[in-house]
Amino acid sequence: MNFKNTLEFARQLDAQDQLANYRHQFNFPQHNGENVIYFTGNSLGLQPKSAKKYVDEIMTDWANLAVEGHFYAEKPWWDYHDRFSEKLAKVVGAKPAEVTVMNTLTVNLHLLMVSFYRPAGKRFKIICEEKAFPSDQYMISSQVRFHGYEPKNAIVELKKRKGENNFRTEDILAKIGEVGEECALVLIGGVNYYTGQVLEMEKITKAGHEIGAFVGWDLAHAAGNIELKLHEWQVDFAAWCSYKYMNSGPGNASGCYINEKYHNKKELPRFEGWWGHKKEKRFLMEPEFEPEAGANAWQISNAPVLAMAPYLASLQMFHEVGMPALIEKRNRIVAYLEFVLQEIDKEVDSTFEIITPANQEERGTQLSVLLHGEGKLLFDYLMKHGVITDWREPNVIRLAPAPFYCSFEDMYKFGQILKQGIQKKS
Ligand SMILES: Cc1ncc(COP(=O)(O)O)c(C=O)c1O
Repeated sequence: MNFKNTLEFARQLDAQDQLANYRHQFNFPQHNGENVIYFTGNSLGLQPKSAKKYVDEIMTDWANLAVEGHFYAEKPWWDYHDRFSEKLAKVVGAKPAEVTVMNTLTVNLHLLMVSFYRPAGKRFKIICEEKAFPSDQYMISSQVRFHGYEPKNAIVELKKRKGENNFRTEDILAKIGEVGEECALVLIGGVNYYTGQVLEMEKITKAGHEIGAFVGWDLAHAAGNIELKLHEWQVDFAAWCSYKYMNSGPGNASGCYINEKYHNKKELPRFEGWWGHKKEKRFLMEPEFEPEAGANAWQISNAPVLAMAPYLASLQMFHEVGMPALIEKRNRIVAYLEFVLQEIDKEVDSTFEIITPANQEERGTQLSVLLHGEGKLLFDYLMKHGVITDWREPNVIRLAPAPFYCSFEDMYKFGQILKQGIQKKS
């Protein structure tokens, strides 16, 4: 499609957008009486208006029923998490029994490593990406130390080639082959948080299995953003937070995927608690642990239902729209944003370098832009003028136009504000 960098054209794209109305189902922060241009759905998604209703329902049930709410609430609390499995499984390409919601992301990755990081003999290494999200780095280092190894001996980092912004699949596969029998686990972010690069999860998972390692994915930037086929790709385990593209609210619960082949594996270690116990027998308070079927056996504690309610509200919207429609709009709006950036680049002295892959298959909603010749002042200008984005050292802004609520008009307006921000300073 031939794009134009005009308000009229952007409005035409909005008029053709099947998802345009969903924008009105979210609460936007206001700037001078107008919705902000929100690019940080990759950090904290906007609040679905329906979230309040889901929370209020629990508040009302708690007020009226107190402890009886566990069984007699509108959505009983004792198995509240079961309401996620079917819908969430569709979002991540899994079977419902392979998916559960509990705890938070880093906590879940730790818990999943209890099952899937089992170093023994010469097989003790973990392959992860260089400059992984800091929490993943801390988690992996603390896990290897917990098992008595030195991080410098046990952690193998995948590297980008000098001067390149993104990982090459061939290099990842070669490194996996090289570490071979010494590798216990491959654990990588499916979508890189800094560049927005989507890794070839199927090929990497296969390569990890070929050397006899477990393969897990941190899907913080992938869930609700890109197409996932976790079951078909035979991924062993994965976890994601829900507060980014899945719009569940700050610090909210994490989703987990555990491949069905491990569900009845008694020899696979796991940290257990009463919420993973067979639910019909949970309140019999028997001493022997009898696992729930599927990924739910990894549950530990009482579900924090008040926190989970907005996640359920948001998931309902994903269920209505479906990932294919979101991805279709995502591709269009990201392509339009890319076009707008290229057009503005021609009009100003500074140069923007989009470090996210140009190929649609290798990116999701995020474009990371290196602002050559620009500094934090430009970011401050954007924020002051109602563009919510984020800044990553040394001079990268990350722009993630979430397809649920961003409009093409937003992209056009952003381009104009960006241009003014650059010209004002020069
Ligand atoms: C890639 C990645 N991994 C892990 C985390 C940590 O998530 P949490 O604080 O929910 O454990 C984040 C948070 O932004 C993230 O982006």
